[in-house]
Amino acid sequence: MAEKFDVVIIGAGAAGLMCAAAAGKRGRKVLVVDNGKKPGRKILISGGGRCNFTNYDVSAANYVCRNRHFVKSALAQYSQWDFFSMVNEHGIGWEEREHGQLFCLDSAKDIVEMLLKECDLPNVGQRYRCDVHDIEQIDGGFSLKLDTDTVHCESLVVATGGLSMPKLGATPFGYQIAEQFGLKRVPTTAGLVPFTLHDKDKAAFADLSGIAIPVTVATENGVLFKENLLFTHRGLSGPVILQASSYWTPGEKVTVDLLPDLDVVETLEAMREKHPAQSLKNSLSRMLPKRLVEALVERGDIQDKPLKQLNPKEIAALADYLANWAVAPNGTEGYRTAEVTLGGVDTDELSSKTMEAKQVPGLYFVGEVMDVSGWLGGYNFQWAWSSGWVAGQNV
Ligand code: FDA
Repeated sequence: MAEKFDVVIIGAGAAGLMCAAAAGKRGRKVLVVDNGKKPGRKILISGGGRCNFTNYDVSAANYVCRNRHFVKSALAQYSQWDFFSMVNEHGIGWEEREHGQLFCLDSAKDIVEMLLKECDLPNVGQRYRCDVHDIEQIDGGFSLKLDTDTVHCESLVVATGGLSMPKLGATPFGYQIAEQFGLKRVPTTAGLVPFTLHDKDKAAFADLSGIAIPVTVATENGVLFKENLLFTHRGLSGPVILQASSYWTPGEKVTVDLLPDLDVVETLEAMREKHPAQSLKNSLSRMLPKRLVEALVERGDIQDKPLKQLNPKEIAALADYLANWAVAPNGTEGYRTAEVTLGGVDTDELSSKTMEAKQVPGLYFVGEVMDVSGWLGGYNFQWAWSSGWVAGQNV
């Protein structure tokens, strides 16, 4: 005889554990199954081991989703303040970093332990290293064939996450379940991911690896971020690039303002007046890292000459070049290093109030498996908490 549960949740990550705790507190008999050996593996490595668990300022504008309005209901039902209260109730130390990002003071482990305590109820069970081999819709719910037995449930919650970081157990299983039940999927691709460069650019900038500069980056569809850009051996990274990558399509350029806070024309004119014999290269090296200026000169993008030989038209052209430095990435580092997966189960298929599939009663999707990806800054976990909690109230 198959054991009967009210709810089976596939995936013991951020969204799955939050859903289990919420459903468990409502008295539902819950089973969480995960193919990994322990819960919350992505939480543990997130935020450099300190987990950027949410953000002071969360709105639909911080999410990439084909339907921009979809996230609003869940974020309102379970907000960043609700999660923040839970963190405080558990006595977890936290700190605010720039852009309202909230991190654990001590360790990301605190968040996993908190979620496990929330799930520590007699009616909530967890199984690890457990694969789901087959799912079937039956009268009044679902039947799941697991490694050693078959279980039945009224509600099935898919919390299998995205495809990023396969070495942490990411699988396409959630998408396969969506397909099995006839739900559409928005094509998936890596998001919050470093750019790789074409060979010529890679060679020109390889020596700059490790250099970080504050810039603004604009994507071709007009999205603008202002944060640090980091040169790497492979290409470009840093928070500004990760953010822009979620709005970038292969073949497109991104436009970098290398000196967003400086009036380059005014500064160069003042320098020319004071030190007319100073070279342009040395002058620019006072505004930007010297090695970057050298690389731009070596590439022939900037002609070095004494400042006194620069006419106003040339200064204006140089300022324009530095404000609109166009980079055409070759690609991204892909799922291997991506923090999230863009695309996923089409939100048109789901109720924004409950996360239940509109055409398949009892089937729910939560977290990153669906077509909702947040910006860098705690937004992805907030989506996992909000969508997981909302489903937990309805299963
Ligand atoms: P999540 O990936 O957390 O969990 C999915 C679970 O499903 C896993 O436990 C997996 O083992 C299980 N699973 C998968 N396939 C299965 C199968 N076939 N059978 C059974 N179980 C299966 N976000 C943020 O807001 N702040 C941050 O600081 C960071 N930092 C960060 C760093 C790094 C390196 C990465 C890769 C990602 C982040 N993120 C982040 C993003 C964040 O980790 C991510 O968005 C959430 O973990 C998504 O939560 P989910 O529960 O949806 O998936």
